[in-house]
Amino acid sequence: MSRVYLSPPDVGDDERRLLLDAFDSNWIAPLGPYVDAFERDLATQVGAGHAVALSSGTAALHLALLLFGVEPGDEVIVPTLTFVATANAAVYVGARPVLVDVDPATWQLDPDLVAQVLDDRRRSGKPPAAVVSVDLYGQCADYDRLGPLCTASGVPMIEDAAEALGASYRGRAAGSFGAAGVFSFNGNKIITTGGGGAMVTDSGELAARARHLAAQAREPVAHYEHQRLGFNYRMSNLLAAIGVAQLGGLAQRVARRRAVNQAYREGLADLPGVTFMPVDPAGEPNCWLSCVEIEPEAFGASRDDVRLALEALDVEARPTWKPLHLQPVFADADRVGGAVAEGIFERGLCLPSGSNLALDDQERIVAAVRALAR
Ligand SMILES: Cc1ncc(COP(=O)(O)O)c(C=O)c1O
Repeated sequence: MSRVYLSPPDVGDDERRLLLDAFDSNWIAPLGPYVDAFERDLATQVGAGHAVALSSGTAALHLALLLFGVEPGDEVIVPTLTFVATANAAVYVGARPVLVDVDPATWQLDPDLVAQVLDDRRRSGKPPAAVVSVDLYGQCADYDRLGPLCTASGVPMIEDAAEALGASYRGRAAGSFGAAGVFSFNGNKIITTGGGGAMVTDSGELAARARHLAAQAREPVAHYEHQRLGFNYRMSNLLAAIGVAQLGGLAQRVARRRAVNQAYREGLADLPGVTFMPVDPAGEPNCWLSCVEIEPEAFGASRDDVRLALEALDVEARPTWKPLHLQPVFADADRVGGAVAEGIFERGLCLPSGSNLALDDQERIVAAVRALAR
C-alpha cells in the first residue's frame, strides 16, 4: 500500500495533454497562450474582472500589498491562525503585521477584534495600511462584517483565498471580496500548477500594474528600461497549461473534497471529544482540508496520538496551523488576543483530504481513529 498524503496533486490525461501541447508549441516562457487562457478562465471562475497568473501565492500577496501602497513602518492586520506566507508578505514590504485572533465560531479572522484595532489606530491617528483576510482551510471569512468595516475605515482589504478556490460566501466566489484576491496553486492546493499563484481584481489598472511589476517592471520600449523596482513573478506558460486543465475540473474536485468531508463526518462525528471545524452558514466551503479538534479527556487519546497512529499506517495527517504569534520569527509582532487560535492549534488535526483519496483508504483512516476512541 502506498502512503496516503494530506492533499496530493490530482492530475491526469488532460493536464498531460495540455502540458505537452505547450511544450511542443515552444512557448516555454513566463508568457504565452496558456497564461492568457488561464487568466481568462480564472477571472471567469471567480467573477472578477481580471486575473494575473504569478509564480506563487506568496508573490501575489507581496504584489497586492505593494499595489495598495503599503510601506515600511505601516501596519497590516492579518489573522494569527494562517500559513506564514500571509504575514511574511507584509514583512517583505517593510510593514509590521498585527496578528489578530480568530472567531471560535468559524476559525476565521474575528471581526470584533479587527474593529477594535481599527478603532484604536484611528484614535492614535495612523490607521493600518491594509487588512489581509484569510479564507482558512477553504472557508470564507466573515465578509458581511469585514468588508463594511474596512470600507468605513478606508483601509483596503486584500483577500488571501490561497486555500479557497471554489468556495463561496452568500453565493459570491472566494477571492472576489477583497480589493484584490490571492490564490495559490501550490502542489497541495485544490488545483495545482505544481507551484504558482494569481491575483484577481476588478480593476484593470491594478491588474496592469501587477503584470508590470511581475515582469521586472520593464518599460514598453525596445531596450531594457526600468523606472522602478520589479520582480520576476510571472507564471510559466508550461505551468499555466496544467492550470487550464485543472481549472476545467475544479467543480468535480470541489465536489470530491466535500464528499470526503461528509464521509469523515458520517464516520467520526458521533465520537466523544471529536468536533469538526465549524461551518459558517453564510458560506459554502470548498473543504480543501477536513479538520477536527480532539479533546483528549473526552476522546481518550490526544491529537498527537491520533496523528502518530495514522503515521504508523503510512497516512499523513497534520496539526492545524501553528498561530503566528507563537512562531519565533514573529515573536516581536503586535498581537490581539490569540487564545482561540492557540486552542485550535493544541487540539486541531487536518485529515487526508485529497480529491483523489481512495474510498478504502478513507475507511482505513476512519477505522484507525475510531479504534483510539474511549
Ligand atoms: C493561506 C495561505 N496563504 C498563502 C499561501 C502561499 O501560497 P504559495 O505557497 O503559492 O506561495 C498559502 C499556501 O501555500 C496559504 O495556505
